[in-house]
Amino acid sequence: MKLLIVSGEFHRIATQYLPKKTTVIHPHALELRNLSEYLNGGNPVGDAILITDQAFTQKPGLDREQLTLLLEWVQENSTSRLPVVLVTRDFMKPFELGMLTQRFDHFNIITSDTVRIPAEVYRSAIEQMSQKGTAPVAPIHNDYKTETTYINENPLKPGQPEKKRSFFDRFRSKPETSADRTATDRLSRDIANISRGISRVVAVTGHRGNGLTSTAVNLAHEASKRGLSSIIIDMDTEYRSMNMYFSRFHDVTNKDEQMSASLIRTLARPQDYLTTAFNIKDQFWLTSLGYSFNDHKLMEQFYNSEKLVGLLSVLRTKFNLVLLDMPLDLLRSFQETMIHIDVFGMCIPNNLHAILSTARNVEVVLDREKAAYLNAKSKVIVTKYNDRSRFQGALFTPDKVNDILASGISDSFQYEMKTAGVVPYSHAFDSQIETDIPMTNTGAEFEKAFGQMLLRLMEGA
Ligand SMILES: Nc1ncnc2c1ncn2[C@@H]1O[C@H](COP(=O)(O)OP(=O)(O)OP(=O)(O)O)[C@@H](O)[C@H]1O
Ligand SMILES: [Mg+2]
Repeated sequence: MKLLIVSGEFHRIATQYLPKKTTVIHPHALELRNLSEYLNGGNPVGDAILITDQAFTQKPGLDREQLTLLLEWVQENSTSRLPVVLVTRDFMKPFELGMLTQRFDHFNIITSDTVRIPAEVYRSAIEQMSQKGTAPVAPIHNDYKTETTYINENPLKPGQPEKKRSFFDRFRSKPETSADRTATDRLSRDIANISRGISRVVAVTGHRGNGLTSTAVNLAHEASKRGLSSIIIDMDTEYRSMNMYFSRFHDVTNKDEQMSASLIRTLARPQDYLTTAFNIKDQFWLTSLGYSFNDHKLMEQFYNSEKLVGLLSVLRTKFNLVLLDMPLDLLRSFQETMIHIDVFGMCIPNNLHAILSTARNVEVVLDREKAAYLNAKSKVIVTKYNDRSRFQGALFTPDKVNDILASGISDSFQYEMKTAGVVPYSHAFDSQIETDIPMTNTGAEFEKAFGQMLLRLMEGA
């Protein structure tokens, strides 16, 4: 097989990984951004195109655009639709590029979350391409306990289709017949959009001060970056700290009484959220209260479980992600809302005090039955994660946090929870309040942390 590899600096190594019968048709490294030059220069294309992570620029929007150009080029210029396969370590790629796998049946993604992608995975990619069939996307894999499986535990054998459906399949629309696929670009785009119809209501909860608000803020930013529509509902009306993270919202609430009452107005008339909530950018919204809002009568009337259930049922149909900032204390008066929340992200730092106070907090607020329900629907977010913190002489790992909670220290936590993610402790954490730039936009470490967390929360409990 003659292969075009788009793998940037990885070109030479990737070449060594390939099976002997494969010929790489170009001697120099290619990246997605210089590919159009190569293709339009009349250079050979071969029988298939393999892309690796090094082909990308790390700017998701730009990468998606470049990849789309390549796939369109292949569609227009190759009669037999060259297979294009992306082999990636980035578990978010199928998420970000789901629309492309939907739109181009010759494009496929294989993920492997190992430190280094094993040669076996490349070989299986080549095998798939030589069969010219579109093999299913391999399962995504994780480093914490979740439902999904590891590719290196169960590598795809050539020709053996993977039976387990990927989580990302839910983002895709139902299979079309080949006749349907002759649809215009517009239609395929619409279909791809419908395939993004997944919706989750996620409550970020935990003991006050455990990092709930910053977690909700960063998750929502991450979702918006990944092309998911999202809205934050700031239920913490006692400590209105959401305003600190969105200074534009804060400024508007100072001038505009209506916006200062945003949460109450949105609870009162959910269907009018486009006017009552605040648009952060694109498909990213917020509803909260300004510091000046203080109408107890209105609070009594609209800030209650019944109204919140109504709001959630409307927003669920409009957004991919509805994120509640909901400290544990609030669950006492919002118990009826709990069944309308798909998953709770339980924020707990990795220290004993935080674990014990979380357990006590649940005991005080909920009866045993409701506590068990919360337990079953929660995933732990280890916040302010201190990688030097120790417990009984060993590292205080995220798993340890879960182990201790499920060890019988509290009747409220009977089942061991899964970890949704870890927010590393950072001395610069409060700079996001000063600068309005969320941690997740400050570099790869936090982007990855919140990206993984987002995915695991979107998976449900
Ligand atoms: N990963 C982290 N590294 C360093 N500091 C952090 C981290 N996460 C949270 N903090 C700090 O802890 C404090 C509380 O954070 P945040 O407002 O997110 O928590 P909260 O649980 O919503 O608190 P509150 O109950 O006051 O609303 C803030 O000063 C924040 O900067
Ligand atoms: Mg808060």
